[in-house]
Amino acid sequence: MMLESEALWWQKGIIYQVYPRSFQDSNGDGVGDLNGIRQRLDYLKWLGVTAIWISPIYPSPMADFGYDISDYTGIHPLFGTMDDFDMLLKEVHQRGMKLILDLVPNHTSDQHPWFLESRSSKNNPKRDWYIWKEAKEDGAPPNNWLSVFGGSAWEWDEQTGQYYYHAFLKEQPDLNWRNPEVQEAMFNVMRYWLDKGVDGFRVDVMWHMIKDEQFRDNPVNPDYDPNTADYEQLLPVYSTDQPEVHDIVHKMRQVLDAYDERMMIGEIYLPIHKLVTYYGTDNNGAHLPFNFMLVSLPWEAKRIASAIAEYEGALPQYGWPNWVLGNHDQPRITSRVGLQQSKVAAMLLLTLRGAPTIYYGEELGMRDVPVPFDEVQDPQGLNMPDKNLSRDPERTPMQWDRSEYAGFSTVKPWLPVSSTSKRVNVEVQTSDPYSQLKLYKRLIELRQREPSLMVGDYVPVYSDHQAIAYIRQAPGATRFLIVLNLSHRPCYLKLQRLQIKGKVVLATATELEGMEITEMIQLGGDDGIIVVLAS
Ligand code: NOJ
Repeated sequence: MMLESEALWWQKGIIYQVYPRSFQDSNGDGVGDLNGIRQRLDYLKWLGVTAIWISPIYPSPMADFGYDISDYTGIHPLFGTMDDFDMLLKEVHQRGMKLILDLVPNHTSDQHPWFLESRSSKNNPKRDWYIWKEAKEDGAPPNNWLSVFGGSAWEWDEQTGQYYYHAFLKEQPDLNWRNPEVQEAMFNVMRYWLDKGVDGFRVDVMWHMIKDEQFRDNPVNPDYDPNTADYEQLLPVYSTDQPEVHDIVHKMRQVLDAYDERMMIGEIYLPIHKLVTYYGTDNNGAHLPFNFMLVSLPWEAKRIASAIAEYEGALPQYGWPNWVLGNHDQPRITSRVGLQQSKVAAMLLLTLRGAPTIYYGEELGMRDVPVPFDEVQDPQGLNMPDKNLSRDPERTPMQWDRSEYAGFSTVKPWLPVSSTSKRVNVEVQTSDPYSQLKLYKRLIELRQREPSLMVGDYVPVYSDHQAIAYIRQAPGATRFLIVLNLSHRPCYLKLQRLQIKGKVVLATATELEGMEITEMIQLGGDDGIIVVLAS
């Protein structure tokens, strides 16, 4: 049980992900920047979020839009200067909010000075900072490992006659985390930002960081679906999630623990029983291993109810849960489940136990935006053109107002603005009491005001093929029943056993607010309600 008085900021708080290229352009080049984010801090404060996570802002050739870093302690001129960053951090803190940076320790850019040195000769002192291997006798790569972005994960280097490993693009060579110098260099990067006052990191592809020492071939995936990425042809059992990764995560945690209340989120796509091991043994791992089940599961009440139960049951006693509906790598929730149902998803995200992360624009019901085939920018889309895997659609400019470029920029932005931006935007939705934005704001307000919703226990009370219901309760605090219809058709719930009595305080359809609730509940399709329970 967690008491509000004992909860840390990242346990009580709400995280908001900013994709910096697409949030706010302040200098008229069509790409978002740090000063742009700073201009919008009052909006984020008004919305009620606690912490802002910004995807990478460091110098980068942008082969993977910033996830290919060429200097871990600099700022890309496209995003601004270090002074701009310092000012942003100061203003975030002045508003009582926190700032989380993206840390990409698994790989660098191929233009990073470390890699330039490493590839310069076989006996360069930094050769072993990356993963270099001899070709097989016939010249083939050392093993069958595949790149997430398509093709072999091994790139031949003509000059030194060896292959190097890259889990992502060939422009993103993987660091060799078995080398203590690499570890220390990255821990120093962390210290650099922590010394500046950054509140935490979202750690990119944490489960990739160490590979099998023997580099054994990955086995074939018997369930491969050719509509998915080529990478799915193999099961990455030797290239990811190796036991030694936990020592690394633990060492990163020690770096953080030398400071006050800093935190680390791990990006980890793994089944629940493996995911929870990233909390570490005895609370010495990641604070929040990202839980992507609401991103990956089919949107079906039964599946979701049982996954929540499985997750709650698998968490170590010190592990704080967290929830995500979308991010810059995934189709937006509104495009997956529809606008009406995305309101139910919002209610789920913001009433479950654990830290919610909101992806920018989710609060407006922004949809994935179609990008003309010949304008695709994302390397994942470009490398596998027939599979519709581009991530551009979920990365389009934030929709602030009715103006031509939605208030994001004064010029044509790097990705198209949604054709719906004249009605789906912050300006319009702020004055519409029924809007998605108002729903998010009210859900956040309620959650942050009520100890039961913020830190209370999760008690599942009902689920069937359409709906799920649960109670949130903290000692001595007002209790809440949450009932969500995850289907589009009306549903009935018979909760006799529970002797429910209460009143709807917040609903996806505001007309339901104030309604008295007893043990027989009927909801319309796509309806979700939060009921304050009579004590
Ligand atoms: C995960 C990031 O979220 C994604 O955008 C990126 O392409 C890969 N890691 C590689 O860094």
